[in-house]
Amino acid sequence: MRFTVHTRNCYLRYCSTIFYKSSRTISTAIYFALASFFIASYAQAELPVPSHIVAPVGEHKGENVPQPIEFPHNTHVKDNKINCMYCHTYARRSKVAGIPPTSKCMGCHKMIATDKPRIQKLTEYWENGESPRWKKVHDVPDYVHFTHEKHIRKFVFDANFPVEDVQQVCGLCHGEIREMTVAEKTKPLNMGFCQRCHQANGGPGDCWKCHK
Ligand code: HEC
Ligand code: HEC
Ligand code: HEC
Ligand code: HEC
Ligand code: HEC
Repeated sequence: MRFTVHTRNCYLRYCSTIFYKSSRTISTAIYFALASFFIASYAQAELPVPSHIVAPVGEHKGENVPQPIEFPHNTHVKDNKINCMYCHTYARRSKVAGIPPTSKCMGCHKMIATDKPRIQKLTEYWENGESPRWKKVHDVPDYVHFTHEKHIRKFVFDANFPVEDVQQVCGLCHGEIREMTVAEKTKPLNMGFCQRCHQANGGPGDCWKCHK
């Protein structure tokens, strides 16, 4: 299994909700049937690799980064089909992908889920004119030059790859974000990982391209 870490988290989370709700009402047999259903559906959910790309090799065990508000990518991406680049708007045109400003969240959350504690906390930030101080999950050393723009242009726009499936390209370096209840680092993003992918997909090999 490639995405063991967060797959297991989600799985346990779902399992515990089901178990909690059902312990009094449904029998153990049904509980196990449900549990195996979730195992099966997660096993099938592996993100496909676009056919024009040789996937970079390497996994990383993500450490949990505590955030001011736990932001559920799964709810937004998987359940509500919001595109990665709707929120991370700069990925296609700059070095950074960008984290959306609170005003963008409030475009929906003035109306949606206003009774939920996390949304009430978000609204409080908004009303105080502040933003949650999201902590970095991915961070390459300063001596490394990385840019989203070149990768997204090459793998999405130059290749005429459908933008609605862009998460498959993001996933090469970020894993199964759509399944995550909290963003985790699942790829090593170290020199070997970058270089092997450059070799396999015609990226530059010169030291100075990545070290300016
Ligand atoms: C509704 C807005 C929204 C959507 C849609 C969304 N994200 Fe995010 N993303 C966020 C927010 C807010 C954070 C900061 C909180 C965190 O890191 O958990 C974040 C964090 C991240 C991070 C970690 C950033 C870091 O600090 O290193 C990655 C990687 C990421 N998103 C990738 C994706 C990908 C890939 C998709 C599509 C599968 C996606 N996001 C869809 C809002 C969004
Ligand atoms: C395009 C609309 C949209 C945008 C933009 C959006 N969300 Fe959401 N968000 C939703 C929907 C829909 C749900 C699911 C609501 C539900 O289950 O009742 C949700 C759920 C959530 C939840 C879980 C609430 C809970 O406890 O069940 C959090 C936390 C959240 N959003 C935070 C954010 C943050 C932070 C941003 C900005 C980075 C953001 N959202 C941007 C639509 C959006
Ligand atoms: C080729 C690998 C690669 C691809 C493809 C990629 N990223 Fe990243 N991403 C990185 C690296 C490396 C970092 C850390 C950059 C740093 O520390 O300066 C990062 C950081 C981020 C961050 C946090 C910092 C920032 O740039 O705002 C977000 C959010 C993010 N990526 C989202 C995305 C989304 C969304 C996509 C797809 C549209 C994507 N990434 C595609 C490698 C990639
Ligand atoms: C999925 C494969 C893949 C991964 C993983 C990847 N790259 Fe790339 N990268 C490419 C390709 C292909 C190009 C050439 C894009 C083009 O032709 O415009 C490229 C281009 C670049 C460029 C632009 C060079 C220039 O011409 O200015 C930089 C910088 C770069 N990559 C750094 C990195 C770093 C640093 C990492 C690791 C954190 C990384 N890449 C991971 C495939 C990848
Ligand atoms: C495709 C991008 C890429 C290319 C090409 C590249 N590097 Fe790196 N390099 C990285 C990244 C990413 C790191 C950061 C690794 C980490 O986070 O541990 C790194 C780290 C390093 C380090 C610090 C290593 C350490 O172990 O602390 C040195 C030294 C280095 N690179 C030298 C080189 C030399 C010399 C070349 C040319 C032969 C080169 N690099 C080519 C991406 C690249």
